[in-house]
Amino acid sequence: MLVLIDHPLVIEKLTRLRDKRTNCLEFRRLLGEISLLMAYEIARDFKTIPVKVETPLGVSAGVRMEREVVLVPILRAGLGMLESILKIMPEARIGFLGLRRDEETLQPHHYYSNIPSDLSQAEVILIDPMLATGGSVDSAMGMLSANKAANVRLLSLVAAPEGIRLVTERYPELPIYTAAVDERLNEKGYILPGLGDAGDRLFGV
Ligand code: PRP
Ligand code: URA
Repeated sequence: MLVLIDHPLVIEKLTRLRDKRTNCLEFRRLLGEISLLMAYEIARDFKTIPVKVETPLGVSAGVRMEREVVLVPILRAGLGMLESILKIMPEARIGFLGLRRDEETLQPHHYYSNIPSDLSQAEVILIDPMLATGGSVDSAMGMLSANKAANVRLLSLVAAPEGIRLVTERYPELPIYTAAVDERLNEKGYILPGLGDAGDRLFGV
């Protein structure tokens, strides 16, 4: 269930995002722009219901979304993608999951969550720019499932084969939307060539 969003606009912006010379301000801007473009592609697969609309001159066929949208960014780096996605999905509800990888074990440590209690009817987009070992997404999916999420899509800007493998094995039904599948992880669990530490670059740490 891997969907590669390799639109030239996305890849050109991702190239600049990867560049180590890109400063914090530019990093934020590019991440936002890419997120909007990727969210637009994800929404292509949303279910719609046919409706009729009266124009000033007649009646036209149209659609409305079948399900409400719930955006769930994984803190911290997922926050950098949220605001621009809200520009095209302004009615979405938002849930937050705070996860931080232990630098030694690479296991995610859960420090915060606040997500709608019943996600069974929602179109959920789980948002995190980096899919490395897949541990964070695995943990997040456990929490979303506990809140009855049934329609989840993962938006991950850069993915490592290791993370894709783990997430696909654990959640074969979960569509993974990514702009790049990179080579591998290094010994510290960073994606190669990747873009470095997304949270640190985004927040200027
Ligand atoms: C990064 C990234 C993902 C996670 C991916 O966050 O934003 O959430 O690592 O790694 P994984 O696939 O191996 O779990 P990090 O835990 O460093 O926290 P941060 O966003 O606060 O920097
Ligand atoms: N988290 C990041 O921010 N970057 C990586 O390469 C891996 C995990």
